Amino acid sequence: MIVLDHVNKVYDNGFHALKDINLEFKKGEITVLIGPSGCGKSTTMKLINALNTPSSGRVLIDGKDISGMNPVELRRNIGYVIQSVGLFPHMNISKNVGVVPRLKKWDKDKIERTVNELLDMVGLDHAVYGSRYPSELSGGQQQRVGVVRALAADPDIILMDEPFSALDPISREQLQDELIRLQQELHKTIIFVTHDMDEAIKIADTIVLMKAGEVVQIGKPDAILRHPANDFVRNFIGQKRLQDEGESESTYQIPLVDEVMITNPVTVFPSRGLAEAIKMMEMKRVDSLLIVDRNKQLQGAVSIYRVLDQYGEEGKTVADVMQPVRYSVASGSTLAQAVEIMDSHQLSNLPVVDSSNRFLGLITRGSVVKHLAEVYPGVGRSADSGEGE
Ligand SMILES: Nc1ncnc2c1ncn2[C@@H]1O[C@H](COP(=O)(O)OP(=O)(O)OP(=O)(O)O)[C@@H](O)[C@H]1O
Ligand SMILES: [Mg+2]
Repeated sequence: MIVLDHVNKVYDNGFHALKDINLEFKKGEITVLIGPSGCGKSTTMKLINALNTPSSGRVLIDGKDISGMNPVELRRNIGYVIQSVGLFPHMNISKNVGVVPRLKKWDKDKIERTVNELLDMVGLDHAVYGSRYPSELSGGQQQRVGVVRALAADPDIILMDEPFSALDPISREQLQDELIRLQQELHKTIIFVTHDMDEAIKIADTIVLMKAGEVVQIGKPDAILRHPANDFVRNFIGQKRLQDEGESESTYQIPLVDEVMITNPVTVFPSRGLAEAIKMMEMKRVDSLLIVDRNKQLQGAVSIYRVLDQYGEEGKTVADVMQPVRYSVASGSTLAQAVEIMDSHQLSNLPVVDSSNRFLGLITRGSVVKHLAEVYPGVGRSADSGEGE
């Protein structure tokens, strides 16, 4: 367990970056630090691996004050992953992953075995990637290497400072899933910094919300969603997740389609070719596309099956093969109205349009479920299941 005990950090320029921080990071848990830029997240991390020292207060690891430890030794026993990866450009991937084990003078065979296992574990075949250099890997692959490098010497503690924030959304989700999977096997004590509440909710056992050098709220994701401590937290977790709390009785109203719709569904211009359409569906992992023209008018829709069926004829555009969209719902309609239309016509999704028939967004079954889950985090659980500590 890591404990911050009345920690203050005042930088040399007089800036009071951390104000009387008291925190416990439990063994084997992922604790997520989240808060606006400059609130002191990275400063907190650096206190734990002794890249920074507290101006007052103590940092304890398993009951021992780290100020009495050799900082270099300490850092070798704490994995550290940062946003800009920090791989050594002139070392190949295997060498990069083996840095700390080499410093720890493990024998060669053990290092090689560990490095190979770790690379394979995150889907980077060691025979293929081991001898490559960082610049020969994609951003997501480099970030995977950053993660396994932090694991290489099998430290109990891993600090991850916005490790995935430079990645595209798909790689980011994949890495989040991998981290969760790894953690189920490894049970490390992980402190993970992010700006992204969705990421925090997905991976955290415990969330610590910070603001201007102070801790605003600590709790399990579910408890924070249900009982945000104040307006700051409420804002931070987002309007859509707004919970009834304290004296204010539940004021849940049936939402409008505008609140529930996906505002960035996958659309294409009518003039796009079929190969482009297939590529797009592949990249965005969807099985159909909406065709929207430059005036935002919804022209039609096309499924992957239809595109594949017509694919043989080169030169065809999505406009040539699309089918009309028969049903849509007007902006300002309620979700109940939308769901009724979807139910009675067996639709898996429903476009939302404005009064000039401009396409605004898409209601999908997924977006409905997601909305309900956000508004009612308890949905699907027994009414009074404890949210215990
Ligand atoms: N070496 C330093 N000297 C002076 N002030 C610093 C130093 N490092 C950080 N600060 C200040 O301390 C505050 C906290 O910085 P920190 O890097 O911990 O923020 P953060 O929460 O990690 O922000 P971000 O989300 O942008 O990474 C900031 O206002 C920053 O300007
Ligand atoms: Mg930071």
